[in-house]
Amino acid sequence: MKICVIGTGYVGLVAGAGFADMGHDVTCCDIDGERFAALKRGEVPIYEPGLDKLIAHNVEESRLAFHHRHGRGRDRRRGGGAGRGHPAGARRLG
Ligand SMILES: NC(=O)c1ccc[n+]([C@@H]2O[C@H](COP(=O)([O-])OP(=O)(O)OC[C@H]3O[C@@H](n4cnc5c(N)ncnc54)[C@H](O)[C@@H]3O)[C@@H](O)[C@H]2O)c1
Repeated sequence: MKICVIGTGYVGLVAGAGFADMGHDVTCCDIDGERFAALKRGEVPIYEPGLDKLIAHNVEESRLAFHHRHGRGRDRRRGGGAGRGHPAGARRLG
């Protein structure tokens, strides 16, 4: 299944990595450019034991990708939702 996760905070990043490790094709989106850049460099912006290895493995297997999306609602901080389908034109990392 193709899954788009909006927000790469504690909820979104853990969910996205978990879905990818289950075999789904996951794109995680975030409007925070610094967070996106860190993920692109292979850095995990939150502390969750083992998450770095899970993310690296699934990026390498092309099941997990990150997309920088500008959008409204930055100050509301409502990330961590799992949506359906891929956003058009999503860029893959790795
Ligand atoms: N962390 C928990 O244990 C927990 C538990 C229950 C509910 N929640 C809820 O889940 C949601 C996410 O929690 P969290 O801890 O992951 O938050 P977080 O602040 O760690 O991460 C949210 C992420 O969403 C991104 N974001 C915000 N608006 C966006 C948008 N419009 N498009 C794309 N990305 C956007 C932010 O840049 C940020 O990286 C919140 O609404 C929170 O209240 C969290």
